Amino acid sequence: MTNPVLETIRTRRIARALTGEPIAREAFEEVLKAARWAPSAGNRRLHRFIAIQDPLTLRLLRMVTPGMFQRPAAIVVICIDRAKAASFGMRPNAKGLFVDVGTAAQTMLLAAHSLGLGSGVVTSFSQAAVSAVLNMPEGLSPEMFICLGHATPTQPPGMPARGQVTWQTLTQWERFPKSSTG
Ligand SMILES: Cc1cc2nc3c(=O)[nH]c(=O)nc-3n(C[C@H](O)[C@H](O)[C@H](O)COP(=O)(O)O)c2cc1C
Repeated sequence: MTNPVLETIRTRRIARALTGEPIAREAFEEVLKAARWAPSAGNRRLHRFIAIQDPLTLRLLRMVTPGMFQRPAAIVVICIDRAKAASFGMRPNAKGLFVDVGTAAQTMLLAAHSLGLGSGVVTSFSQAAVSAVLNMPEGLSPEMFICLGHATPTQPPGMPARGQVTWQTLTQWERFPKSSTG
């Protein structure tokens, strides 16, 4: 079975080599608009997105991000608004806070891919350094970068999957069988 959404999901891959060509502001805004529609625990919207295209800021972020192999034309920093989360009585490690980072991230990756942009996820960075570079207010924590740009035609090899991964190996139908000893 196929349709444009399934095709976008299947063909999106992390782009770790980008051309250096800037991305259009309109496309960047579409990616941010898409994130607004990501599912959010309790519909609380406890995230802030910092949208960056300034070359100097991009360079500074790259310097404090060992996990960033690409040179992005734009970055969205997905932040948790911890002050707002605390005002809802949420614990700092409440599951929904981090799940919401993931739903926003995947929504942006798919939106970017649908617009013909290359995109990548990066979490390997110094939160303190990123906060300092971006003059972030107390109460916001940077959790993930979405790197955007134009993918080069050939990409470095991705990270190898460990073992054979198919949808079937990831799925258990119904219940697990009772163990014979149980
Ligand atoms: C939580 C999370 C953190 C990640 N951190 C990084 C990272 O720091 N650097 C990087 O190059 N890719 C990072 N990735 C991308 C994964 O390596 C990538 O999704 C995986 O290898 C599968 O590749 P694909 O998305 O192209 O199928 C991250 C992905 C997730 C979900």
